[in-house]
Amino acid sequence: MRTRRRHLAASAALAAALVAALTSCGQEARGGSRYQPDKGKGGTVGIAMPTKSSERWIADGKNMAEQFRKAGYEADLQYGDDKVENQVAQVENMITKGHRLLVIAAIDGSALTDVLEQAAAAHIPVISYDRLILGTENVDYYASFDNERVGELQGQYILDKLGLTEPDAGAAEDEHYAIELFAGSPDDNNTKYFWNGAMKKLRPYLKTGQLVVRSKQTRMNQATTLRWDGGTAQKRMDDLISKNYGNTDVDAVLSPYDGISIGILSALKSAGYGGKRHPLPVVTGQDAELASVKSIVAGEQTQTVFKDTRKLAKQAVEMGDAVLTGKKPEVNNTTDYDNGKKVVPAYLLKPVSVDRKNTGLLVDEGYFTKEQLR
Ligand code: GAL
Repeated sequence: MRTRRRHLAASAALAAALVAALTSCGQEARGGSRYQPDKGKGGTVGIAMPTKSSERWIADGKNMAEQFRKAGYEADLQYGDDKVENQVAQVENMITKGHRLLVIAAIDGSALTDVLEQAAAAHIPVISYDRLILGTENVDYYASFDNERVGELQGQYILDKLGLTEPDAGAAEDEHYAIELFAGSPDDNNTKYFWNGAMKKLRPYLKTGQLVVRSKQTRMNQATTLRWDGGTAQKRMDDLISKNYGNTDVDAVLSPYDGISIGILSALKSAGYGGKRHPLPVVTGQDAELASVKSIVAGEQTQTVFKDTRKLAKQAVEMGDAVLTGKKPEVNNTTDYDNGKKVVPAYLLKPVSVDRKNTGLLVDEGYFTKEQLR
């Protein structure tokens, strides 16, 4: 097993030379330092983000690039267009160019093992951003939100909105509610944390029958949405409605992410939901994306979970700067994020539930302007 912290050294030039040497003679780097020797500012940080199809990742990338530049580094920001092979090629390219640090929000958390072997051989430290990179020792730190808490906020919101305060097997028939469940992308490690957090809240009521999933799709692998795609969620919701809700309404839909919520709402509206006679169900979400916050203001989507990505970017930049300048990054969780090879030291930020009553918070925090939310 490689000792990863033995040496905190190797200049960018040396790292690049090492890559070249490895390529030319095809040998494993032995010993050598995990990090580069010139502990100091300068050089380039590679930032690999998953997709531009969601506002949050655009903002995350932009914020990090700006802050790394302010902190004294160059930034190479790349988006993988949600294609695993693109992201792998982008990271490979960053390694070949001799970047000093990699910050990666993985498209598929398990698909980076080989490329991160190359990063390790070139002594380039790696920060896993928002989504944990799995199955490799070659990830140093993790910056994210408390992902299980996100799910708890979504599950608890549904309970509160439906007025469910106590699991009660003897509850009257008119206190039984129909719910359908959606989960995130199966290849994103966050998906199970969101799901587990929400189900921790909802399960007791599924047991008593106060919540009923008419489709019977209650397992995570029946509810996942590949690449968090709104269109995929819309199709599934169309199907769930047509097969299970002929003569009765769905009262709540657990949605793990705003892009999925918008798809679910489109399906509901095409099936005639909306308006007084046939109200939209409670629909949760995550990320406080502009389209969803507007939908909340308009009384359609019910809730979202606000994760201030500016703060996450700041945290990742501070971690990266600490690593590169030979300091110890601040972490607040060293137990929960086991990637299958190691427990990755993490810094987790707090998510906040937002509904119609507190969208003002997003304006107060400067996340959106008042005008944007009109
Ligand atoms: C997750 C992330 C969520 C949401 C989702 C879809 O990994 O934690 O906040 O952005 O991806 O992009």
